[in-house]
Amino acid sequence: IMRKFSERQFVIPNFEKFVKAIEEIYWNCKSNTAGSNASYIPQLANVADHWGVSVCTVDGQRFSIGDTEVGFSIQSCSKPLTYALACEYLSPEVVHKFVGQEPSGRMFNEMVLDHNNQPHNPMINAGAIVTASLVYTLIDGKRSMAEKFDMVKTMMESAGGNERFGFDNSIYHSEKEAADRNFALGYFMKEKKVFPAKTNMLESLDFYFQLCSIVTSANTFSVVGATLANGGVCPLTDEKVFKVETCRDVLSLMHSCGLYNYSGQFAFNVGLPAKSGVSGIIMLIIPNLAGIVCYSPKLDDFGNSVRGVQFCEELLKTYAIHPY
Ligand code: DON
Repeated sequence: IMRKFSERQFVIPNFEKFVKAIEEIYWNCKSNTAGSNASYIPQLANVADHWGVSVCTVDGQRFSIGDTEVGFSIQSCSKPLTYALACEYLSPEVVHKFVGQEPSGRMFNEMVLDHNNQPHNPMINAGAIVTASLVYTLIDGKRSMAEKFDMVKTMMESAGGNERFGFDNSIYHSEKEAADRNFALGYFMKEKKVFPAKTNMLESLDFYFQLCSIVTSANTFSVVGATLANGGVCPLTDEKVFKVETCRDVLSLMHSCGLYNYSGQFAFNVGLPAKSGVSGIIMLIIPNLAGIVCYSPKLDDFGNSVRGVQFCEELLKTYAIHPY
């Protein structure tokens, strides 16, 4: 980093100017108090009105503003990472025998399968429950739940520059108690024989709830975003965490399916891969440039962070980074 600094070879040579633009958009969004916290999980309903944005570039330049050290559960932002791990260990071909690549156009938790009786994609609940079951059932079946959980969490930590991630036990219990829809989805998919043979559906669901309850901060998770933007190499440690092909697959699905039934409009307005979670996180990837994480718990009707979506859309008005 020091050499690049002295030679002015950063991917964003004028990082100070970029930071100024981020700050300006941050303050614009702060005054927007629309939306409300996820209410179906009591532990998410009571969270304060935080607002933070963190940036990490593919060559390790970082900037954070606002509540970027506050811990929160990653919720649906676990989905692209569980999918990445399944692809790395099992191959995308095997994973896509069980789950599709098509946007569903429906709510994230909807009871709907595609024309093959499979989940539309790994970014909605049905698909994420299936990818969690693939990781739990098919990768080295002798490993315990604890070892499987550590596998996913350690992969996230590697992508996050070896920062420790946490686990929120009350979110996990709250999640599980409020999970009638996810249980219904699990039984529905079991009936339709969506899961691989020998899957313990209830244990796989439990595993999915645990992955949603992993805790990080915007600051740390922006490094995960930068690793995905950087072809799988963590910019802080130079560790190769994902294959280039895995990043391509993850980002392609984030582009088409990452914001649930707002994915089409977001792809139209922003044109970049992103993933949201009901805790209020949005991870935006600018391929070959940076990962950006927005955190603000108030959600719109689609379940996406109001300020997070606004931030991404305003960023695109300032910088011509829409690919088309
Ligand atoms: O499965 C659930 O209900 C959640 N714990 C995760 C879903 C989620 O984050 C959807 N986000 N908008």
